[in-house]
Amino acid sequence: MKQRFYVTTPIYYVNDSPHIGHAYTTIAADILSRYNRLQGKEVFFLTGTDEHGQKVEKAAAEKKRTPKEHADIMVDNFRNLWKRLNISNDAFIRTTDDAHIKSVQGLLQMLWDRGEIEKREYSGWYCTPDERFWTEKDIVEGNCPDCGRPVDRIHEENYFFLMSKYQERLIKYIEENPAYILPDTRRNEVLGFLRNNTLGDLCISRPKNRLSWGIPLPFDENFVTYVWFDALVNYFSATRYLVPHPENAKLGDFWWPANHHLVGKDILTTHAVYWSTMLMALNLPLPKNIFAHGWWTVHGKKMSKSLGNMVDPNAMVEKYGVDALRYFLFREVPFGLDGDFSEQALINRINTDLANDLGNLVSRFIAMAEKYFGGAIDIERIDAGASREFEEQCAYAHMNVHRKEYWSHLQFSLMLENIWAIIGEANNYIARKEPWKLAKENTDQLKIVMFNIWNALRITALSLYPFMPDTAGKIWIQLGLKSLVDEAKQYSPEIFEWDWKPSYEIKVSKAEHLFPRIEIKDKNKDRG
Ligand code: MSP
Repeated sequence: MKQRFYVTTPIYYVNDSPHIGHAYTTIAADILSRYNRLQGKEVFFLTGTDEHGQKVEKAAAEKKRTPKEHADIMVDNFRNLWKRLNISNDAFIRTTDDAHIKSVQGLLQMLWDRGEIEKREYSGWYCTPDERFWTEKDIVEGNCPDCGRPVDRIHEENYFFLMSKYQERLIKYIEENPAYILPDTRRNEVLGFLRNNTLGDLCISRPKNRLSWGIPLPFDENFVTYVWFDALVNYFSATRYLVPHPENAKLGDFWWPANHHLVGKDILTTHAVYWSTMLMALNLPLPKNIFAHGWWTVHGKKMSKSLGNMVDPNAMVEKYGVDALRYFLFREVPFGLDGDFSEQALINRINTDLANDLGNLVSRFIAMAEKYFGGAIDIERIDAGASREFEEQCAYAHMNVHRKEYWSHLQFSLMLENIWAIIGEANNYIARKEPWKLAKENTDQLKIVMFNIWNALRITALSLYPFMPDTAGKIWIQLGLKSLVDEAKQYSPEIFEWDWKPSYEIKVSKAEHLFPRIEIKDKNKDRG
């Protein structure tokens, strides 16, 4: 049976306008999915939207829509963006899906029957916009410690998931499974938090008279489910009805547990603590990994509607193209750390890495191949006695691109650095070998050099595919090969080796330059 790989993104609040923060997590999941598919695994890549709660209810009322009507309109902001960003998700879950609702209710009933949920009198400080309770010591001068807005004192009865009793078990689990929470700094933060604080129980209901837009508790109609309980369950509920061959899910052939839950650092606690203990109480296996990535700021500031500094991925794609944006986000900052987004930095990456290093290499190579041999590449050439220095350097960088630890620790920027090492080697090789001289002096040697560059570009295209699928596919075709995805699947794993050769003749062909340079007008000049 094929190996399986299941990766998730958070489900995004349907009411929000997508920005580069959302795009970031989703592209990361796309990179992992494309890579694993190419390696011949059966992949399930899940994303979707979080549609219940007060904010949706309010926004819908303002627009004179029902919450569901509102969600049905808003969800397209995400769906369309994912199409535009070339996201290859296998499913899109909405928490308003009937099957999801039934799943949440089924799990709640199970927890209730097992005595994992209790009804209690509760009072606390409540931040309405954030839909969050705070304790006395959390609040700052009567305001929410998170958003700074005033909090209200609320007394009510509610249902609690008895999370506190899992504290020790969770600590032990994280200690024994070093890759459960990554990166390590985040793992240490979670461990520190769990060791130094007493975990409370988790309020998982909201009275219907305060909030009606939610999933009713199966054992008490007067309450709806707290959004996070509803939302976290998506990762599991999707494995019952959205996976390939859902009929198998019923037979117990589950996709669960996920290989990676990708989340931003702000929602690590909900995943590492709430979700993990919920799964423990349900007797379900825990995901193999929760990876918390950093945040993008703009000029050092948090992106926010009120500051008007949200970066719209649609606009970036419009201006610079999908692959340039995908590349920039994962090359500029190691996944896991915070980064600052600026168009200038994006333009610099396009002009140097993409236009200069990669784009020029491809177009120069094709032009030479056409000039010297009418585009034909002699793939049977091997350089018998000569040193294999170039091949070895490329093979070393290529091995790094595929390093298991990089992929298990989501070190995307290191993979890209190594791909650029191959590109750099190829550029140096051309400078060293001077094909224009060989064309006059030694065409046999020239054929070998041209084959080696061709092969380095073939390996580059394969390696780039998860990050820049469009560009990789275009390079593949220019190299005279047939179809990157089909051939990679058909000839995996040999196709990833330096020595792999196609079984047909190769003729390269020119196309448009992959990444034209972006000229920026010098503002100072305009001023004269
Ligand atoms: N609905 C919840 C998630 C439920 S998952 C069971 C939610 N949604 S969200 O739309 O607000 O955020 C989704 C993701 O976007 C989070 O992982 C968050 O970290 C990420 N980002 C939001 N702003 C970001 C940046 N400025 N930079 C990077 N990622 C950021 O939370």
